[in-house]
Amino acid sequence: MNKLQSHKWDPAQHYKDSAVAKEYDKVRFSSLAGRVFNNQEKRIIQECFQDLPRDTVVLDMPCGTGRLAETLLESGLKVHGTDISGEMLDVASERLAGYGNRFTAEVMDAFKLTGGERQFEATLCARVLMHFPLETQIKFLRGVGSLTRKRIVINHSLSSPYQRFRRGIKKLLGHQQSAGYPITNAEMQRLLAEAGFAEVERRRINSLISEAIYIVAEKIR
Ligand SMILES: C[S@@+](CC[C@H](N)C(=O)[O-])C[C@H]1O[C@@H](n2cnc3c(N)ncnc32)[C@H](O)[C@@H]1O
Repeated sequence: MNKLQSHKWDPAQHYKDSAVAKEYDKVRFSSLAGRVFNNQEKRIIQECFQDLPRDTVVLDMPCGTGRLAETLLESGLKVHGTDISGEMLDVASERLAGYGNRFTAEVMDAFKLTGGERQFEATLCARVLMHFPLETQIKFLRGVGSLTRKRIVINHSLSSPYQRFRRGIKKLLGHQQSAGYPITNAEMQRLLAEAGFAEVERRRINSLISEAIYIVAEKIR
């Protein structure tokens, strides 16, 4: 069983290890496939925010090592990166030091937001929801959504009949599963609605070989 399938694996604790934080990008994205995917993901994220005025401060939660914050900064936006792991944010702050005060960082737990925190026009919530069961995903997105006035961009792993078939084959071949808790389209709509958002558009990367899905949603309440 790999760590993403293990119910004991805790995404809130795992990334607080500074060795894990320092190795995160190398482990995930240094292979040829990882580099191609990383570039495609960054392009999609840029497109999802491209119509915003360039002085907009985007909330990136969880920001991790600043991988996607860097893409937003490159496109001229400002970023406030938050994460439960100070160790991941240290890597992000070092990586993004050249952007001066256009990038700021703050340790925050998505499950412990009070509603009184600073608000943002637009938010990115990438590569975290699929680590939790659906009910916990809803709580996480409600937390992030409580800081978001209008737009939220999330990524997720889609569980369609084709992707479930692909997972079955990967399991038979002993390949690593990509995410612990992929969700169906119906679950996606429930996740968004219960967090107070409605889908505006969606994008995929290589849908034949990847579960990755990117949703642009807007606040409905
Ligand atoms: C796989 S990383 C993704 C980081 C970044 N979004 C990216 O795409 O590279 C998941 C991040 O979620 C953070 N995280 C886990 N639980 C959290 C929580 N309750 N509140 C805020 N961040 C959390 C972890 O510390 C970790 O940095």
